[in-house]
Amino acid sequence: MSKTVAFFGASAGVGLAALKTTLAAGHHCIALCRVPAKLTSIFPASTTPNLTVIAGNAHDVAAVSKCLQASPGKFVDIVVSTIGAKPVMNGMRPGIDDAEVCRKGMATLIEALAEVRKNGLVGGPHIIVGSTTGMSKFGRDIPLAMIPLYHVALKVPHQDKGIMEERLVASGEGFTIVRPSFFAGGESDKKIRVGIEDPKTGRESEAIGYTISREDVGKWITESLILQRDAKYDNKIAMITH
Ligand SMILES: *[C@@H]1O[C@H](CO)[C@@H](O)[C@H](O)[C@H]1NC(C)=O
Repeated sequence: MSKTVAFFGASAGVGLAALKTTLAAGHHCIALCRVPAKLTSIFPASTTPNLTVIAGNAHDVAAVSKCLQASPGKFVDIVVSTIGAKPVMNGMRPGIDDAEVCRKGMATLIEALAEVRKNGLVGGPHIIVGSTTGMSKFGRDIPLAMIPLYHVALKVPHQDKGIMEERLVASGEGFTIVRPSFFAGGESDKKIRVGIEDPKTGRESEAIGYTISREDVGKWITESLILQRDAKYDNKIAMITH
């Protein structure tokens, strides 16, 4: 059966890889994008009839609400949110363009779901969000050698992702949080290892590794959470690495 999946942040990286593989499997996709040409240049309308690109910002409740309906009166089946900050230079110092991009995006999504329900829609999509390793409350999930990088250089974006995760867990929506290890380039056919955490009760299994590619994370999301959904990931955190 064909599913409808809404994507936020799919113009690059993990989101783009998940969008590509979901479309290739014949499902319907709706993607919110500030600059639609970024997506329509990759997926021309003539050859990609199952993709609807909506222009807008993931921090705008009205724009996000438009993406949440598969058809009038019916929620999309799944939401994949992989929005994140972009690296920028602040003078001579590398930084990011918005230190609160993820937490604001999650607040917007939760508000948009409430808005759409006010119009009589029932149920709701399964929400998949891209987060990161290095911030587990239940023990180390990265190699020891990577601790300085995570705790110094990546502190600000990781705080933001932490708040995003907390908001999602507290929302009562159904979800899977995906925490990939550090991103390395390229696609690979290396085996993917998965650890699982329950945000309330703690770690169920462990997978500690250095890196994974964005392509592989996107493909894993499509295969494990979209095309079929393994119930062991419902309302859980999946830590994935090579
Ligand atoms: C579009 O979606 C339908 C299912 O609704 C599917 O049968 C068809 O193959 C898809 N088309 C493409 C080009 O993927």
